[in-house]
Amino acid sequence: MKPAPAVFDAAAARAEFPALSRKVGGKAMVYLDNACTALKSARMSRTLAEAHELWGSCGGKRSTHLLAQEVEERFQAARSAVAAFLNAERPDDVVFTSGTTEGVNLVARGFAFQGPRREVVVGAWEHNSALLPFVEAERRGECVLRVCPVRAGRLDLDALEGLIGDKTALVALARSSNVLGGALPAAQVSKMCRRRGARLLLDDAQFLSSHREDVRASGADFVVFSAHKLGGPFGLGVLWGEERALNALRPAKVGGGTVKDVVLDGGRPTPVWLDAPMRHEAGVPNIPGALAFAEALALLDSWDPAAVRAHVAGLVRRTVTGIARVAEAALVGDPAALEEGSLAALRSAHPSFSVKDFNLYLNHELPGRFVAARAGEHCAHLLHASLGLKETLRVSFFAYNTAEETDLFCAALEGYAKEACR
Ligand SMILES: Cc1ncc(COP(=O)(O)O)c(C=O)c1O
Repeated sequence: MKPAPAVFDAAAARAEFPALSRKVGGKAMVYLDNACTALKSARMSRTLAEAHELWGSCGGKRSTHLLAQEVEERFQAARSAVAAFLNAERPDDVVFTSGTTEGVNLVARGFAFQGPRREVVVGAWEHNSALLPFVEAERRGECVLRVCPVRAGRLDLDALEGLIGDKTALVALARSSNVLGGALPAAQVSKMCRRRGARLLLDDAQFLSSHREDVRASGADFVVFSAHKLGGPFGLGVLWGEERALNALRPAKVGGGTVKDVVLDGGRPTPVWLDAPMRHEAGVPNIPGALAFAEALALLDSWDPAAVRAHVAGLVRRTVTGIARVAEAALVGDPAALEEGSLAALRSAHPSFSVKDFNLYLNHELPGRFVAARAGEHCAHLLHASLGLKETLRVSFFAYNTAEETDLFCAALEGYAKEACR
């Protein structure tokens, strides 16, 4: 029998995040919008400020004076820290991007679609960031899109297997949905891809806040995610891939820092690209962001991953139970799948229950407190359309959330339903 994971000390984690003890408009905050972005720790924010103050010079292998050398050393150390977090083979397998969105765009624009192998399979649960770059690639005539449906709150793996064929170039899927949660069985999906010679891109934007990814064990060719959803800074993300896969991507964002040389070929300026990661990191990199992200990862590393996972799954379970008690609202998705993620979403199940109105209630009607949740389509329009929903209300958790906070949300749900519908 597996030993039970240690109990996660959420109170100690909370102490690291000053925003949690701040009042907004005179009200204490219950922050349940972590799928949008996690709050930022004091130590990460200090590192970000310090990086600007002390190392505000360019590194990125450009200038070579002593300060630039020091900056470059720290920047590469941050790359190594990210590589270690992912169990990547080499630091150079980590490309710094501006976020998940840019990572997917780099793959969608740079992928070498060849011959009849032009199909891209995505899930109906994709976030627009991971969907639209391929919609646009299809519009440019570079690929043909196939959409794998969602069944009973999960990506339909039988349908997926049927969709991956000899024409499939790339399968691009969220590892965890920003509405339905879940944890895609990456190794199984990767086997389906390998059998058919297709590449696999995993969008880990919603996965890494309460899971660890071992990129080598995942069987993926590319993994993308955003630092800000892990308590890191805004404007930084990662595209991971092995050397060959990254070098096979055409540089899609071009500019300074990406070339060994620009030669004249038949009188035309012709770039000689550097190898990855540099060929994909055009422009002066976000060095302070990378340094601060390494600090955010050090905080995550100081927590027991199994304890964090059990803690967050417990918060989801508690929320799911609370939602089930209110007849006027209904859970979106499958409870077991939701528990594998870090969020829960609900929809109206009564003509007088309005998701928008409930969101206002959470902000304005709770004495001395407000709950920061998210109402809308969460940039998952395709999923909402496929579920026949216009909007949902989502609460999403990070390690610092507590059972008391989920209970407060569930009590608010009961209170609102009573007021609006009974
Ligand atoms: C599953 C998923 N993919 C991609 C993104 C886009 O992330 P970013 O806006 O940080 O690029 C999000 C953001 O919510 C997401 O939930």
